[in-house]
Amino acid sequence: MCGIFGYIGTDGRAINSVLYSIGLLEHRGYDSMGVAFNMGREVELYKISQEDKENFNIEDLKRLVPKRKRICNNGIGHTRWATFGGKTTKNAHPHHDFNKLFYFVHNGNVENLDDIKKELGKGSFYSETDSEVIVNLIAKYYREMNSLEKAVSKVLKKIEGANAFVVMDANKPEQLIAANKGGTIILGKENGNTIVASDLAAFEPFTIKNRHILKDNEIVEITKQGWKIYEDEKVKKAAKEINEPNSDLGEYKFFMEKEIFEQKYTMANAIRGRLITETGIPKLGGIENIARSLRKVKTFHFIGCGTAYNACLYAKFLFNRFGIAASASIASEFCYRHSVFAPDDAFIFISQSGETADTIEVINEIKIKGNICLGIVNVPGSRIWRETDAGISIRAGKEKGVASTKAFISQLASIVMLAVFLARQRNMTIDTGQRIFRELELIPDKIQEILNQANLIRKVVNKNSRFTNYYFLGRYFNYITAEEGSLKLKEISYVHAEAYPLGEMKHGPLALIDKDFCSVVIIPDDSVFKKSLVNIHEIKARNGKVLAITNKKMDVNLADDIIFVPRTIDYLSPLLTTIPLQLFSYYMALKLKRNPDKPRNLAKTVTVS
Ligand code: AGP
Repeated sequence: MCGIFGYIGTDGRAINSVLYSIGLLEHRGYDSMGVAFNMGREVELYKISQEDKENFNIEDLKRLVPKRKRICNNGIGHTRWATFGGKTTKNAHPHHDFNKLFYFVHNGNVENLDDIKKELGKGSFYSETDSEVIVNLIAKYYREMNSLEKAVSKVLKKIEGANAFVVMDANKPEQLIAANKGGTIILGKENGNTIVASDLAAFEPFTIKNRHILKDNEIVEITKQGWKIYEDEKVKKAAKEINEPNSDLGEYKFFMEKEIFEQKYTMANAIRGRLITETGIPKLGGIENIARSLRKVKTFHFIGCGTAYNACLYAKFLFNRFGIAASASIASEFCYRHSVFAPDDAFIFISQSGETADTIEVINEIKIKGNICLGIVNVPGSRIWRETDAGISIRAGKEKGVASTKAFISQLASIVMLAVFLARQRNMTIDTGQRIFRELELIPDKIQEILNQANLIRKVVNKNSRFTNYYFLGRYFNYITAEEGSLKLKEISYVHAEAYPLGEMKHGPLALIDKDFCSVVIIPDDSVFKKSLVNIHEIKARNGKVLAITNKKMDVNLADDIIFVPRTIDYLSPLLTTIPLQLFSYYMALKLKRNPDKPRNLAKTVTVS
C-alpha cells in the first residue's frame, strides 16, 4: 500500500527517474500520485488523483511536469492508497509542513494521531492525512533541535503503528532522510545515484549492485555518495543482498493476463531442482537448517490474508490428509481471538508480497511467544522473508496484477512440497513421495492444456455475463478452489460472488437459487464426486444456472456449460481447477470494462492493518 520513491543523483535525471519509478509502483496504490523535485532554490510539487481524472495514470502526472525544467538531482514520489482522507488531490503526497520547509512521502498509518495533533496544538491542515500532521511534527522538532536526523528520530519514537517515510529538506538539495518503523525501505546505489524505495519494483530501471534494507527504528541519510544509517543517533552499517526479479508486459494487455499465462513456467520454477526422486523427499534449502526441530512439531498453524489465506486453507487440508495436525487462520483475526497453541507448535506465514501488515502483526505476536516461524513468500528480502526463522521461496517472479494468480499456484506447489517433506519425516512412505513428485512434474503441462482453452472460457464468460450473482461451490479440496474463484471474481469484476462448500447449499444458500443465479461448481472425479452430482441436481431442480469445472464426462443436461481440466491426484486438483476460474474472472472483468490491474479500492500490497 502506498509506494515511496526517492532519488539523489549526479546526472540531472531525478525528474525522469522519479516519474518512471513511480509508474512502476502503481500496484501499491493508484488513488493518487505525486512528486516533489528539489530544484535548488525551490521545491516543485505536482499531484494528481482520481478526483481530477477517474482513470488517470503516470502519463497524466508526467504531463503536469513542465518539460523545460527537467534538470534536477533530488526528487521524491508517491503512489497513494487512501486511509486517512479521501482520494483527493489535496490528500495526495508529497505533503509539506506549514512553512514548506520539508516535503514528505509516507507509507503506513499513524495510530496515535490524536495525541500528535494535540501536541502540535492549533494549525490549519490543508489535507485530511496523518502524513501532513507528521511532517509538521518533524518541522516542530527540527525547530527545537536544529537537526533533521534528530527530529526524525524523535518522531519515530513518538508515532505508533507501522510507518516508513522519506523527507526532503527544501534547503538541502544534496540530501534526503528516510526512516522505518514496521515498514519497508530499500536503498540502492548505482553510478553516482542513490535510490530509496518502498518496493523492489521501483529498482527495475537501475542496475544496482549494493542494496540495503532498513531495519526497524533506523534512520538513514541519503546522498549521492550513498547512505549513512542512524539508530539512536549512532552511525551503523549493515547490508543484506537480495535478488530482484524483472517484469514487463510484453505481448499482453494486462499484468493479470500475463501472469495467468506464464503459470506453466512459474509452476515449473517452483519445483525445479527440488523433487529428489530417489528419496521422495523434496530439497527445500530454506528449511534445511531447522529440519530437526520441524520433526518435533505436533501442529502447524498457517496464517495469511485473501488469496494467501486460501493457500493456508489448502495447507491445512493437505497436512491433515497426510496425517499432520494443522490449522489455518486469517491474519487480521488471529491476534484478537483466543487461539490455543502449544510451545512446540510452528507457525507458517504465507504471503506473496511478504509485506502484508496483518500477517506481520501475527509474526510479531508469535515471536514474543517464541514459537518457530516459517515463511512461504514470493518476494525475496521482503519483511516476512526477513522476520521468519526459515522458509520457502515460491519463485513465482514479480507479480504485478493486484489479483494474485501465479503466486497462488506457486504457493500451493510449495505447500505440497513442504507437506511431503514433513510427512516423509513422519509416516509417508517413499513411494507415496515419489508418486506425488511424478504427478507434480506433470502439472506445468496440464496447466498449459487449460490455458489453451482460453478462447472457450472467454465464450462461456460472454454467454454468462448477464448474471449479477454467483455461487462458487466445491467440496473438500475444491471448496478452496471455490473460495479462490469467488475472491477473484469479486475483486476485479465487482460482481457479487460467494463461495460455499457444495454440501452446505441445502442448509440455507439454496434459497437464493433461481434462473437468474449462476453457480460455478468445481467437481473433479474424486471421493466426493457422486455427492457433488446430487447437489448439482438440487440446483438444477430450482432452475439455477450451472457452470461445471470437471475432469469427468458429465451429463450435458446437468451443467449448462462445462470446462474440462486434466486429471491429477485428488489433492493436487486445486493446482488445475483454479486456472479456469482465474481466466473466468479475467475475461469477466474485460467484458464488464473493468481494468483488472487496477481494481477499485484495492492495492496489491496491503501494508496497513
Ligand atoms: C488476491 O487476489 C488479493 N489481491 C489479496 O487477497 C492478497 O492475496 C492479500 O492481500 C494477501 O497479500 P500477500 O499475499 O501479499 O500477503
